[in-house]
Amino acid sequence: MKGNEEAIALFLVCLFSIAAAAAAIDRNKFPADFLFGTSTSAYQIEGGYLEGNKSLSNWDLFTRIPGKIVDGSNGDVADDHYHRYIEDVELMHYLGVNSYRFSISWSRILPRGRFGQINQNGIKFYSNLIDALLDKGIKPFVTLNHYDIPQELEDQYGGWLNPQIQNDFGYFAEVCFEAFGEKVTYWSTLNAPNLVIKMGYMKGEYAPGRCSLPYVSCPSGNSRTEPYLAAHNVILSHATAVDIYRKKYQRKHGGFIGIIMAANWREPFTDTPMDRSAASRALAFEVPWFLDPIIYGDYPPEMLQILGSRLPIFSIEDKQKLQTKLDFIGVNHYTSLYAEDCLFSQCDSQSTLEGYGFAYTTGEKDGRFIGDNTGVNNFYVVPSGLEKMILYIMKRYNNITMFITENGFGQDGSSNPSNEIRKELLNDRKRVEFHTAYLSSLLEAMRKGADVRGYFIWTLMDNFEWSNGYSKRFGLYHVNFSSQERTPKLSAKWYKEFLQSSAELCTKADGDVKPKLVAQ
Ligand SMILES: *[C@@H]1O[C@H](CO)[C@@H](O)[C@H](O)[C@H]1NC(C)=O
Ligand SMILES: *[C@@H]1O[C@H](CO)[C@@H](O)[C@H](O)[C@H]1NC(C)=O
Ligand SMILES: *[C@@H]1O[C@H](CO)[C@@H](O)[C@H](O)[C@H]1NC(C)=O
Repeated sequence: MKGNEEAIALFLVCLFSIAAAAAAIDRNKFPADFLFGTSTSAYQIEGGYLEGNKSLSNWDLFTRIPGKIVDGSNGDVADDHYHRYIEDVELMHYLGVNSYRFSISWSRILPRGRFGQINQNGIKFYSNLIDALLDKGIKPFVTLNHYDIPQELEDQYGGWLNPQIQNDFGYFAEVCFEAFGEKVTYWSTLNAPNLVIKMGYMKGEYAPGRCSLPYVSCPSGNSRTEPYLAAHNVILSHATAVDIYRKKYQRKHGGFIGIIMAANWREPFTDTPMDRSAASRALAFEVPWFLDPIIYGDYPPEMLQILGSRLPIFSIEDKQKLQTKLDFIGVNHYTSLYAEDCLFSQCDSQSTLEGYGFAYTTGEKDGRFIGDNTGVNNFYVVPSGLEKMILYIMKRYNNITMFITENGFGQDGSSNPSNEIRKELLNDRKRVEFHTAYLSSLLEAMRKGADVRGYFIWTLMDNFEWSNGYSKRFGLYHVNFSSQERTPKLSAKWYKEFLQSSAELCTKADGDVKPKLVAQ
């Protein structure tokens, strides 16, 4: 950025800091040891899809199926983070975050799952990344699995559909604890399995792309049964990994282990008992679906009532395994939607609402949206939804520790925008407003007693957004996907400013702003 442009951008940041101060959010309102970071995931940023003896993941194959990714793209190169991780750690150092949430590519570490060797190139890559982070005072917050699994596991036994994956996941987890555990305090077993299971086995929109009518037509799958089988194996895979961590590593390494859930809020469409019950069913079919078994040993009553024997049963042995529970819940929160009753009321396409607790969700009521729209369909800006979601988890799970592991604002932007569009994308005032408002909502939940210990912005830099390809941009940094150049957006400067809480810099914002931004 040219000096002039930078001064203007900084001036804008200062205006927003003042607005932020007015809304009473600054870094000092949060505990000193609160984690503030950015989030990413392996497949979305790494690229290097066949380098260092990595094998193909199920996403490497899924992205090749015509029509699955809106712009026909894939993660072969993505942000080329595999080669640029040093530069990317610098970007975070510039922001001043004290933590970084990333995931490990299973197929880089164990190209053939349990059926082959540990790939030392993969171990080396993540060791180097972790060392580079620690060197800058940034704590690694590691997710073992964020969607991508070795394709070999799909081919050999059907991936999450087969109980065998519990042992495979346990093995993978143990290899990671052994290799990185001394340097990692925060482990998450899985990222948003509730989303990946619905998208992968009910709607066919994520790998492995299985589904059936009346939901959606796919070459294979069963939308009415497979999601529940796959989820069952995910839950027990989580328990297997936690069991290994508790028995062999936790005392030695002094770390914590949890799971991350997609946790968007559901607001009753009308303030009636029927819609209130629909909203609570909709939530139960998302978050307690996984957390009730992990924390209380069985599926939520809201699901048992509707699905009955279609939900797999936890054996005595399984329940034993589930005793290990977890240390924290990671909350990925983007938006809120209305939920409308379709259990007692007649609705369109009712049969496909079973998997959502017979709740119809919509962002619109009487011609008005639930919040301002963003660049992503059905993602509206509803800051109070974060507080409600946190308090819901706090109450249902006895004040368990939480981290906000993802919260972010998506912009609509092609992989190769014109100069003019690029300028707009860089001047992401709405993203700054989004985070300011959501952080206030988070503070409110904490004032009400919620034990939240960290907040991670999705995401560090624009990347491969799954079925949206490169068409949606959530980054604090803009990425030119041809040159791989990273450019800080206004929001990157705002985050840096917020983390410094350098009030002196901005209170003097009378046009004579002395940028103290570190040169890139
Ligand atoms: C990958 O594995 C093969 C053996 O299968 C080995 O010859 C080769 O050197 C490895 N590549 C790297 C980059 O380690
Ligand atoms: C939840 O736990 C935290 C930390 O232990 C505590 O400070 C807070 O008061 C608790 N909140 C409630 C509602 O019990
Ligand atoms: C992105 O990078 C390409 C390749 O270096 C370059 O030609 C193009 O001008 C860049 N786009 C923008 C908007 O800077």
